[in-house]
Amino acid sequence: MLDRIKEEMHLYEKKVLKALESEGGESTPEKVLKLQLLPIKSVMSAAGILASKDIIKVNKDVDELLSLSEDGASYAQDGLPERRILSALQEEETIHMKDLSQKSGIEPSEVKIAIGWLLRKGWATLDKGQVTISSQGMAARNEAGPDESLLKELGESGELSLQELSPRLQEGFNLLKQRKGLLKVHKKPSYTLEVTPLGKEILEDGVEIREEATQITHEQLKSGSWRNLHYRAYDIKAEHPDSFAGKLHPLQRTIEEIRRIFLNLGFTESRGTILESAFWNFDCLFQPQDHAAREMQDTFYIKTPRETLLPEDELVEKVKRAHEHGGKTGSKGWKYQWDREVARQSVLRTHTTCVSARFLKDNQPPLKMFSVGRVFRRETITYKHLPEFHQVEGIVADESITFRNLLGILKEFYHQLGFQVRFRPAYFPYTYLSTECEIYLPEKESWIELGGAGMFRPEVLEPLGVETPVAAFGLGIERLAMIRLGIQDIRMLYQSDIGWLRELPVTHSVDWNEI
Ligand code: DAH
Repeated sequence: MLDRIKEEMHLYEKKVLKALESEGGESTPEKVLKLQLLPIKSVMSAAGILASKDIIKVNKDVDELLSLSEDGASYAQDGLPERRILSALQEEETIHMKDLSQKSGIEPSEVKIAIGWLLRKGWATLDKGQVTISSQGMAARNEAGPDESLLKELGESGELSLQELSPRLQEGFNLLKQRKGLLKVHKKPSYTLEVTPLGKEILEDGVEIREEATQITHEQLKSGSWRNLHYRAYDIKAEHPDSFAGKLHPLQRTIEEIRRIFLNLGFTESRGTILESAFWNFDCLFQPQDHAAREMQDTFYIKTPRETLLPEDELVEKVKRAHEHGGKTGSKGWKYQWDREVARQSVLRTHTTCVSARFLKDNQPPLKMFSVGRVFRRETITYKHLPEFHQVEGIVADESITFRNLLGILKEFYHQLGFQVRFRPAYFPYTYLSTECEIYLPEKESWIELGGAGMFRPEVLEPLGVETPVAAFGLGIERLAMIRLGIQDIRMLYQSDIGWLRELPVTHSVDWNEI
């Protein structure tokens, strides 16, 4: 135990302890620094560390130091005003008040106060303006009072410790402090360092002062002399302040993991804008213009700009025909009159499927594309709903792509995130076959729905000029993040609760055996 403590002692700690030993177990930092030739800062910090290990005790005392102000210094030189009057009175015995200033050489402004003190000290009497020296005044002629002695001492030595004043000077202090602005008192902490019983034990055991290697040089490494150097031991259990590493927000981290998975699967990343036209968000996805999702209560319509530009006529015409009678797809369409103006409305995108539609318009299969983005729906905020959230959307287009491939891709994706997935039949206006993915929550022994997928319908593909099958999916991200973070309230992800964020691990580790 003792060895361990000694091993961990810094050279300066040893020096301070040794100095205290030579001083009989107790001394001041000033003395220690003289004995060991250390900077005062090093003495104090070593003393602090020694004290934290209970090897010494640091006693703090506050010294009050007395000194003279400018006025005080001039009194110390010229004498107190009442003393100067007394000197004048020795020659004339009685002087009228109005002549005092001139005869004693004090300022007219000081006369009143000086008379006050003369009377108080009993050096003179005052009668009808006449100041007359008393017998006490005669006796005091050649004798300084305690206040004058203190003035003199301070004038000579500059500073005196209030605590160490003699009784006489203490009396002088009590007098002088009644006059405004003569004395200055400032507080100065003083310390004594005292070896504790543990410190004594260490000293008795012997403390050797030797140089410690703090940085190893190239030469020492090359010559191997580093082996013979002395190193100080570290206390790896020492207390330390908590430190919180900077890290990605957990939602952002989930997004990054998701991106990584699709990038590793060879998908191209694309992105759209959150302000979209109804055309791309709904119409080209074969969502009829009277579809419930378009209602005001589900979709945010934008005032500025209220309308967007439609793409080229050819595409718009084809979409119109698909809606009205199926165009060249063999479908009968929705059998209503399609309205350009409705398609021009600007909306906050309600899903990221519009990014896939735009991508298909501009790129030829074979292709694999994914995108991550924010989507918006008019939802009341609750623990499980927010009016904006994220989706990851993807498409795979190729001659040979089938629904089974789609299920395989989704399975692979969720497995990589550590989840078990199952599929249920579903309906979306833009897909056939369609499915919803559900993942398993072991703690709750239940399944929750996380997204939709399917094969894009001919009514979607034909206007876009795509001739191969396209497997498509769109999955929610927040719920995934919630499950992984073990939180019950979706709002947590947007609240920036600094305490919670700090406690979260820097990275997630996936237990591959679980999958
Ligand atoms: N857009 C759907 C939603 O927001 C999800 C979805 C379903 C996306 C099927 C797709 C799909 O790409 O094929 O709920």
